[in-house]
Parts: sequence; C-alpha cells; structure tokens
Amino acid sequence: MTLTAVLTERTELGQGLLLRVQARPELLACRPGQFLLLRCGPDWTPYLRRALFPVDAGHDSLVFWIDSLADEGIAWLSRRRVGDVLDLIGPLGKGFALQAQQRRLLLVGQAAQVAPLLALMQVQLSRQGSVVLLLQAPTAAALLPPGALPPSVEYYTATDDGSAGSADALDSLLGEVTPWADALAAAGSPAFLRQVQRRIAATRPEPYRGFAQAVAPVPLPCGSGACLACLVDTGRGHHRACQRGPVFDLAELVL
Ligand code: FES
Repeated sequence: MTLTAVLTERTELGQGLLLRVQARPELLACRPGQFLLLRCGPDWTPYLRRALFPVDAGHDSLVFWIDSLADEGIAWLSRRRVGDVLDLIGPLGKGFALQAQQRRLLLVGQAAQVAPLLALMQVQLSRQGSVVLLLQAPTAAALLPPGALPPSVEYYTATDDGSAGSADALDSLLGEVTPWADALAAAGSPAFLRQVQRRIAATRPEPYRGFAQAVAPVPLPCGSGACLACLVDTGRGHHRACQRGPVFDLAELVL
C-alpha cells in the first residue's frame, strides 16, 4: 500500500538523524521488525526506494533513524525539511514475536542495523519487561549516545578501535548476559550473526530454537517477492525475506 506522511521533526542523534513523520493508522500498524519502502529521490522510479525499519511507532507518528549518508538515496532523504511529504509503501514483512512470558530481552546488534531492535525495545518496556542492549560499532562515534536510550535499559558497547569497549568485549558480554535472557533479538552482518549463534550455542545447553530471533542480513529492494534479492537459506530451502521474514528464528539462518 502506497501512503504519504508529513515530516514533522528532524533531530540529530549521534552520527545520524531522527526523522519523525505524522503517520496514518495504516502506518502505525507497523510492528518491530517490519519495514517500509521509502521513496528516496525526486523521481517516481521504484528503484529509488530504500527499506527502512522504524525505531518507534508512537500514538500518531513513526520515527526513523538514518545514518548511512554514504548511500545516495538516504542522503537525499536526510535533506528533506519539516513539512515535506514522504512517500512510503508498507508495512511489509513479518516482524519480531515476543511471548507474554518472555520478560528479559537481550538485544544484540551492530549500530548500523539497530533500528528494528530499538522498536522492539520500546514494546518490551511498554509491557514492563527488562532490556539489555549490546551494541557493536567501528568507533565510539558510531554508537548510539547513552542519553538516547531510556534509563531502564542496560547498555553495553564494543568497538573495533577499542574507543568504547574492546573489540572482543561483545563476545564476553554475550557470554555473561545470555544466560539471564529469556529472549534474544539480533541484527547485524552475517559474520556478526554467526558470532551470536556460536555464543548462544556455547552458553545455553538446551536447544535454543524459539529463544533467538534475527533480522536477515539481506537487501530488501522490492518488498513484494518479485526481485529475489532477499533470498535467505534456512537449511530447508531458500525463502524470500520480504515475505517470510525479514525476522527469522536465528537457529534457522544459514549464514
Ligand atoms: S525484496 Fe524483492 S523479492 Fe524480496
């Protein structure tokens, strides 16, 4: 479904930009892990759309965090002004599913892919659940500033250059926090998700199917099942992430 939404707020956050749009009820139905295709150029060609995951869906607005300004389309989006009208398709795909009894949520992500985890964080906090966020980035500057997170969220970081937690801090943090959690959600590169898979397998002796979910690390250019750019190997065949995902059980993903 193609919809329009007015940009109501632009706020700098870390190295990126928060964009808030006034959303209609159809857009507010977007669940954590679902995505929208935003037109990111002056023309109407669908190839200029980018898949974006909202970081929050409030009472009447959706919020996006964009930081990859090296991408031409995202850079175009970052130049939109308050009052501009954005063109969106969605919500698309299948998002995260949290069971009522899952009260202790561990979020593990790379900063560039953290958006769907932040949306899930909001849902978990709204139902009085606990949240720990482990975030990895190349440098401290690429991380989310701690002040951007609700005070009740425990926040730990690891950086490649050691400027905010050493590069191997993620592995030891995962080892410490995974036994505490009764649900885990992850987002990052294939190598990053493989590391999370290995650490879960080493930490939790019981089979963990259903415990951990992850956003498949694939492009989502069309969102309609037509282009096949989003194929994901689940070990039982290849599936379109835009249709069956993009959120999968982490145990299913062959990375
Ligand atoms: S994004 Fe095109 S088939 Fe899934």
